[in-house]
Amino acid sequence: MYVHCDVGQEEQVKSLVDTTVSAFGRLDIIFNNAGILGNQSRHRMSIMEFNPEEFDRIMSVNVKGTALGMKHAARVMVPARRGCIISTSSVAGFMGGTGPHAYTASKHAIVGLTKNTACELGRYGIRVNCISPFGVATSMLINGWREGDSEWSKGVASEEEVQKMEEIVRDLANLKGPTLKANDIAEAALYLASDASRYVSGHNLVVDGGYSSSKNCVGL
Ligand SMILES: NC(=O)c1ccc[n+]([C@@H]2O[C@H](COP(=O)([O-])OP(=O)(O)OC[C@H]3O[C@@H](n4cnc5c(N)ncnc54)[C@H](O)[C@@H]3O)[C@@H](O)[C@H]2O)c1
Repeated sequence: MYVHCDVGQEEQVKSLVDTTVSAFGRLDIIFNNAGILGNQSRHRMSIMEFNPEEFDRIMSVNVKGTALGMKHAARVMVPARRGCIISTSSVAGFMGGTGPHAYTASKHAIVGLTKNTACELGRYGIRVNCISPFGVATSMLINGWREGDSEWSKGVASEEEVQKMEEIVRDLANLKGPTLKANDIAEAALYLASDASRYVSGHNLVVDGGYSSSKNCVGL
Protein backbone atom coordinates (compact mmCIF):
# COMPACT_ATOMS: atom_id res chain seq x y z
CA MET A 1 0.00 0.00 0.00
CA TYR A 2 1.32 3.48 -0.83
CA VAL A 3 0.55 6.59 1.22
CA HIS A 4 1.98 9.87 -0.03
CA CYS A 5 3.82 11.65 2.77
CA ASP A 6 6.09 14.65 3.15
CA VAL A 7 8.01 13.64 6.27
CA GLY A 8 8.58 17.28 7.25
CA GLN A 9 4.81 17.81 7.65
CA GLU A 10 3.48 16.45 10.93
CA GLU A 11 -0.13 16.00 9.76
CA GLN A 12 1.07 13.84 6.87
CA VAL A 13 3.27 11.65 9.10
CA LYS A 14 0.39 11.28 11.55
CA SER A 15 -1.91 10.32 8.70
CA LEU A 16 0.65 7.79 7.36
CA VAL A 17 0.80 6.03 10.73
CA ASP A 18 -2.97 6.18 11.29
CA THR A 19 -3.69 4.86 7.79
CA THR A 20 -1.30 1.95 8.38
CA VAL A 21 -2.90 1.07 11.71
CA SER A 22 -6.39 1.30 10.17
CA ALA A 23 -5.39 -1.01 7.32
CA PHE A 24 -3.29 -3.57 9.21
CA GLY A 25 -4.46 -3.29 12.83
CA ARG A 26 -1.04 -2.33 14.24
CA LEU A 27 2.36 -0.89 13.39
CA ASP A 28 5.28 -3.29 13.86
CA ILE A 29 8.08 -1.38 12.15
CA ILE A 30 8.77 2.12 10.89
CA PHE A 31 11.79 2.86 8.70
CA ASN A 32 12.62 6.56 8.55
CA ASN A 33 14.68 6.46 5.36
CA ALA A 34 13.71 9.67 3.53
CA GLY A 35 16.56 12.12 3.30
CA ILE A 36 18.08 14.90 1.22
CA LEU A 37 21.69 15.88 0.65
CA GLY A 38 20.82 19.49 -0.14
CA ASN A 39 22.08 21.68 -2.93
CA GLN A 40 25.61 21.96 -1.67
CA SER A 41 27.63 20.00 -4.18
CA ARG A 42 31.21 18.90 -3.65
CA HIS A 43 32.26 22.11 -5.43
CA ARG A 44 30.41 24.37 -2.95
CA MET A 45 30.90 22.77 0.43
CA SER A 46 32.89 25.38 2.37
CA ILE A 47 31.46 26.55 5.69
CA MET A 48 32.02 30.04 4.26
CA GLU A 49 29.27 29.26 1.74
CA PHE A 50 26.91 28.05 4.49
CA ASN A 51 23.32 28.84 3.54
CA PRO A 52 20.90 29.12 6.52
CA GLU A 53 17.77 28.53 4.40
CA GLU A 54 19.30 25.39 2.93
CA PHE A 55 20.31 24.26 6.42
CA ASP A 56 16.69 24.65 7.62
CA ARG A 57 15.40 22.69 4.61
CA ILE A 58 17.82 19.80 5.21
CA MET A 59 17.12 19.72 8.95
CA SER A 60 13.37 19.79 8.28
CA VAL A 61 13.45 16.62 6.17
CA ASN A 62 16.33 14.68 7.71
CA VAL A 63 15.96 15.49 11.41
CA LYS A 64 12.41 16.75 11.93
CA GLY A 65 11.12 14.09 9.52
CA THR A 66 12.89 11.36 11.47
CA ALA A 67 11.75 12.74 14.83
CA LEU A 68 8.14 12.95 13.59
CA GLY A 69 8.33 9.36 12.37
CA MET A 70 9.59 8.31 15.80
CA LYS A 71 6.91 10.36 17.57
CA HIS A 72 3.94 8.98 15.67
CA ALA A 73 5.29 5.43 15.63
CA ALA A 74 5.78 5.62 19.41
CA ARG A 75 2.23 6.96 19.83
CA VAL A 76 0.82 3.66 18.56
CA MET A 77 3.67 1.33 19.63
CA VAL A 78 3.75 2.34 23.32
CA PRO A 79 0.19 1.11 24.07
CA ALA A 80 1.01 -2.11 22.19
CA ARG A 81 4.26 -2.46 24.19
CA ARG A 82 6.16 -3.59 21.13
CA GLY A 83 7.63 -2.16 17.97
CA CYS A 84 10.75 -1.41 16.05
CA ILE A 85 11.95 2.00 14.89
CA ILE A 86 14.73 2.19 12.31
CA SER A 87 16.21 5.33 10.78
CA THR A 88 18.89 6.02 8.20
CA SER A 89 21.90 8.01 9.29
CA SER A 90 25.18 7.81 7.35
CA VAL A 91 28.94 7.53 7.80
CA ALA A 92 28.50 11.34 7.77
CA GLY A 93 26.51 10.81 11.00
CA PHE A 94 29.56 10.00 13.09
CA MET A 95 32.66 11.20 11.23
CA GLY A 96 33.77 14.31 9.37
CA GLY A 97 34.74 14.71 5.75
CA THR A 98 32.14 12.50 4.11
CA GLY A 99 29.42 15.02 3.24
CA PRO A 100 28.39 18.68 3.19
CA HIS A 101 28.15 20.49 6.56
CA ALA A 102 24.36 20.69 6.90
CA TYR A 103 23.89 17.08 5.81
CA THR A 104 26.61 15.93 8.23
CA ALA A 105 25.00 17.84 11.10
CA SER A 106 21.61 16.35 10.25
CA LYS A 107 22.95 12.80 10.14
CA HIS A 108 24.79 13.25 13.46
CA ALA A 109 21.44 14.37 14.89
CA ILE A 110 19.78 11.14 13.75
CA VAL A 111 22.32 9.07 15.72
CA GLY A 112 21.59 11.20 18.80
CA LEU A 113 17.83 10.96 18.34
CA THR A 114 18.13 7.19 17.96
CA LYS A 115 20.05 6.77 21.22
CA ASN A 116 17.81 9.13 23.18
CA THR A 117 14.59 7.61 21.86
CA ALA A 118 15.90 4.08 22.54
CA CYS A 119 16.65 5.21 26.08
CA GLU A 120 13.04 6.35 26.57
CA LEU A 121 11.19 3.58 24.75
CA GLY A 122 13.16 0.55 25.96
CA ARG A 123 10.85 0.21 28.97
CA TYR A 124 7.96 -0.46 26.56
CA GLY A 125 9.84 -3.17 24.68
CA ILE A 126 10.36 -0.92 21.66
CA ARG A 127 13.73 -1.17 19.94
CA VAL A 128 15.19 1.94 18.27
CA ASN A 129 18.20 1.70 15.96
CA CYS A 130 19.76 3.39 12.95
CA ILE A 131 21.83 2.36 9.95
CA SER A 132 24.86 4.24 8.66
CA PRO A 133 25.66 3.41 5.05
CA PHE A 134 28.80 4.34 3.13
CA GLY A 135 28.31 5.46 -0.49
CA VAL A 136 25.53 3.80 -2.47
CA ALA A 137 25.25 4.85 -6.13
CA THR A 138 21.72 6.26 -5.87
CA SER A 139 20.51 9.46 -7.53
CA MET A 140 21.31 11.35 -4.30
CA LEU A 141 24.98 10.47 -4.36
CA ILE A 142 25.40 10.84 -8.11
CA ASN A 143 23.65 14.23 -8.21
CA GLY A 144 25.73 15.50 -5.30
CA TRP A 145 28.92 14.32 -6.91
CA ARG A 146 28.36 15.50 -10.44
CA GLU A 147 26.96 18.98 -9.86
CA GLY A 148 29.33 21.43 -11.48
CA ASP A 149 31.40 18.62 -12.92
CA SER A 150 31.28 18.95 -16.69
CA GLU A 151 32.60 15.43 -17.13
CA TRP A 152 29.28 14.04 -15.88
CA SER A 153 25.99 14.72 -17.63
CA LYS A 154 22.95 16.25 -15.87
CA GLY A 155 19.59 14.57 -15.42
CA VAL A 156 18.72 11.00 -14.48
CA ALA A 157 21.72 8.87 -13.55
CA SER A 158 22.89 6.74 -16.43
CA GLU A 159 24.15 3.19 -16.02
CA GLU A 160 27.61 4.53 -16.83
CA GLU A 161 27.39 7.04 -13.97
CA VAL A 162 26.21 4.36 -11.57
CA GLN A 163 29.17 2.19 -12.52
CA LYS A 164 31.58 5.09 -12.21
CA MET A 165 30.22 6.00 -8.77
CA GLU A 166 30.46 2.38 -7.63
CA GLU A 167 34.05 2.34 -8.80
CA ILE A 168 34.81 5.53 -6.79
CA VAL A 169 33.26 3.94 -3.66
CA ARG A 170 35.12 0.65 -4.25
CA ASP A 171 38.43 2.56 -4.48
CA LEU A 172 37.71 4.37 -1.20
CA ALA A 173 36.49 1.27 0.64
CA ASN A 174 38.61 -0.83 2.94
CA LEU A 175 36.83 -4.11 2.17
CA LYS A 176 37.68 -5.21 -1.36
CA GLY A 177 35.46 -7.51 -3.40
CA PRO A 178 31.80 -6.63 -2.89
CA THR A 179 30.23 -3.44 -4.26
CA LEU A 180 27.92 -1.69 -1.79
CA LYS A 181 24.34 -1.82 -3.14
CA ALA A 182 21.03 -0.48 -1.85
CA ASN A 183 20.11 -4.09 -1.15
CA ASP A 184 22.89 -4.31 1.47
CA ILE A 185 21.17 -1.50 3.36
CA ALA A 186 17.80 -3.25 2.98
CA GLU A 187 19.37 -6.41 4.47
CA ALA A 188 20.63 -4.38 7.45
CA ALA A 189 17.13 -2.92 7.93
CA LEU A 190 15.60 -6.40 7.73
CA TYR A 191 18.01 -7.61 10.40
CA LEU A 192 17.09 -4.70 12.68
CA ALA A 193 13.38 -5.27 11.99
CA SER A 194 13.53 -8.99 12.76
CA ASP A 195 13.77 -11.06 15.91
CA ALA A 196 17.38 -11.85 14.94
CA SER A 197 18.16 -8.48 16.56
CA ARG A 198 15.73 -8.84 19.48
CA TYR A 199 18.31 -7.61 22.02
CA VAL A 200 19.74 -4.81 19.87
CA SER A 201 18.60 -1.27 20.71
CA GLY A 202 20.19 2.18 20.62
CA HIS A 203 22.61 0.85 18.03
CA ASN A 204 24.07 2.52 14.96
CA LEU A 205 24.65 -0.31 12.47
CA VAL A 206 27.48 0.88 10.24
CA VAL A 207 27.42 -0.68 6.75
CA ASP A 208 30.65 0.63 5.28
CA GLY A 209 32.90 -2.36 4.66
CA GLY A 210 35.25 -1.15 7.41
CA TYR A 211 35.78 2.29 5.83
CA SER A 212 35.27 4.32 9.01
CA SER A 213 37.23 2.00 11.27
CA SER A 214 40.41 1.76 9.25
CA LYS A 215 43.10 4.31 8.55
CA ASN A 216 45.95 2.11 7.50
CA CYS A 217 48.85 4.35 8.46
CA VAL A 218 51.19 1.58 9.69
CA GLY A 219 51.18 -0.38 6.47
CA LEU A 220 49.05 -3.33 7.65
N1 LIG B 1 23.28 7.03 -1.20
C1 LIG B 1 24.20 7.10 -0.25
O1 LIG B 1 25.40 7.02 -0.52
C2 LIG B 1 23.78 7.28 1.18
C3 LIG B 1 24.77 7.12 2.18
C4 LIG B 1 24.40 7.27 3.50
C5 LIG B 1 23.08 7.53 3.83
N2 LIG B 1 22.15 7.69 2.85
C6 LIG B 1 20.79 7.96 3.26
O2 LIG B 1 19.95 6.96 2.73
C7 LIG B 1 18.62 7.46 2.63
C8 LIG B 1 18.08 7.15 1.27
O3 LIG B 1 18.81 7.93 0.32
P1 LIG B 1 19.10 7.45 -1.19
O4 LIG B 1 20.56 7.37 -1.36
O5 LIG B 1 18.26 6.29 -1.54
O6 LIG B 1 18.67 8.78 -1.96
P2 LIG B 1 17.48 9.05 -2.95
O7 LIG B 1 17.55 10.50 -3.26
O8 LIG B 1 17.55 8.08 -4.07
O9 LIG B 1 16.20 8.71 -2.07
C9 LIG B 1 15.73 9.58 -1.09
C10 LIG B 1 14.24 9.44 -1.02
O10 LIG B 1 13.74 10.32 -0.03
C11 LIG B 1 12.53 10.87 -0.52
N3 LIG B 1 12.28 12.18 0.12
C12 LIG B 1 13.00 13.30 0.06
N4 LIG B 1 12.40 14.28 0.76
C13 LIG B 1 11.27 13.75 1.28
C14 LIG B 1 10.23 14.26 2.10
N5 LIG B 1 10.23 15.52 2.54
N6 LIG B 1 9.23 13.42 2.45
C15 LIG B 1 9.19 12.13 2.02
N7 LIG B 1 10.15 11.59 1.24
C16 LIG B 1 11.18 12.40 0.88
C17 LIG B 1 12.79 11.04 -2.01
O11 LIG B 1 11.55 11.12 -2.70
C18 LIG B 1 13.54 9.78 -2.33
O12 LIG B 1 12.67 8.73 -2.66
C19 LIG B 1 18.72 8.96 2.94
O13 LIG B 1 18.34 9.19 4.28
C20 LIG B 1 20.19 9.25 2.75
O14 LIG B 1 20.62 10.38 3.49
C21 LIG B 1 22.47 7.55 1.53
